Amino acid sequence: MRYILFNDQLVPRDTPTIDIEDRGYQFGDGVYEVIRVYQGKPFMMHEHLVRLYRSAAEIRLSLPYSMEELQTKLEELKQKSPVEDGMIYIQISRGVAPRNHGFPASTVSPQLVAYTREMKRPQALFQSGVKTILLEDIRWLRCDIKSLNLLGNVLAKQAAADQNCYESILHRGELVTEGSATNVFMIHKGTVYTHPASNLILNGITRTQVIQLCQEKGIEAKEEAFTVEQLLAADEIFITSTTNEIMPVIQVNDNVIGQGKPGLLTIQLQEAFEQMIN
Ligand SMILES: Cc1ncc(COP(=O)(O)O)c(C=O)c1O
Repeated sequence: MRYILFNDQLVPRDTPTIDIEDRGYQFGDGVYEVIRVYQGKPFMMHEHLVRLYRSAAEIRLSLPYSMEELQTKLEELKQKSPVEDGMIYIQISRGVAPRNHGFPASTVSPQLVAYTREMKRPQALFQSGVKTILLEDIRWLRCDIKSLNLLGNVLAKQAAADQNCYESILHRGELVTEGSATNVFMIHKGTVYTHPASNLILNGITRTQVIQLCQEKGIEAKEEAFTVEQLLAADEIFITSTTNEIMPVIQVNDNVIGQGKPGLLTIQLQEAFEQMIN
């Protein structure tokens, strides 16, 4: 039997847990994280939990348990519902209360749900690379919060799927921000560029890791915004996320990037990432 973590209890997966007046369900009023599991071991769990607590604090949601307590509970969940190559999903909503936009009484406690799931690494795509489209970034101005409100991201991802593409690369006016569910990197003359960690992007855990790998490999990495025009003229492009790792981009709209195959620096970074997770 599979289990989920529901607040501080491990309950069978099919136990009804979500109330119709849960604010996460009604307003998207909550925050979440996705933690990768490789060979049974959670990857960068601490970094994800730090970001979860930060996201919660930014929406004025205080959690009634410490990060260490939550980590212990997630380990218990993983023991009871093991996963080999997959993920742990965690979401915390502001709780259950009669529907009203303003915050509920302080006696209302947040509702936590976490579960594990097998998820294969997209190995074939790591090698072939993916096609993308450009799309105006119409999301709100706090994209640094990993909020349950993902409608802008959902619509952007679907716009890409509608054109048989893998991801939308978003831009605010001339400047590229990030993907619908990924951070965007481009390489020009041997230097790696990505948008700075501001309110306009989610500061990806993989993003931070890639910047560190660049430093370790002696590759110059700049956290500087770049334009759509610069993106289209890039030597190499890749996108990053917990589930996509370092994913080469071989096309943006009708523009083929590099020679239509993953670039050499991208492959070098993929290899360094592979070493890190093994
Ligand atoms: C909008 C957005 N940007 C960036 C990322 C990448 O973040 P991470 O590397 O922490 O998974 C995600 C991940 O889901 C995302 O949803």
